[in-house]
Amino acid sequence: MQNFEFTKEELAKIDAIIARYPNPQPAVMPVLWMAQEKYGHVEPDVQKLVARTLNLPEAHVHGVATFYTQYYKERKGKYVLDVCTSFSCQACGGYETLHYLEDKLGIKAGETTPDGMFSIQSVECLGACGYAPMMQITNDVYVNHLTPEKLDKVIDDLKKDQLPEFESIPLVQNRTTAMENE
Ligand code: FES
Repeated sequence: MQNFEFTKEELAKIDAIIARYPNPQPAVMPVLWMAQEKYGHVEPDVQKLVARTLNLPEAHVHGVATFYTQYYKERKGKYVLDVCTSFSCQACGGYETLHYLEDKLGIKAGETTPDGMFSIQSVECLGACGYAPMMQITNDVYVNHLTPEKLDKVIDDLKKDQLPEFESIPLVQNRTTAMENE
């Protein structure tokens, strides 16, 4: 059984996080994040480590961890594909995108490929509705305006460990361009 511990340096970092707040409860999210960056997930034993470290009830940490899809409650693949299936993405083919990926990788949402390379999740709105359908890769890169061809390329690139460029949402640029066109 794996032993989950924070190092002395990590504990010092956690103390600094706790010191920002009047009590340790708001530190749960950043410390869960630290733990996930270290272990790649926050499965129950990691949640217990966070609870122990912050001297909080396990149920409190568990409640926070399970509220957000961004915290991985079990081990995931190297690349986690969060396909948005909320309203705007759904209207623009979010479920078709999800099913295309499921067929391509031979797994269902919530599963991981046997080689440990990919997990798929169906997630709520990621705040890029104007760029639907879209997905996020491992809590990081956004890939917008998905098509089967684009998904094929993304998967091929990820197999070679090449992350696509983050496709940002240039709100300011759009506003400037709109004003220039007025
Ligand atoms: S509905 Fe998909 S990003 Fe908002």
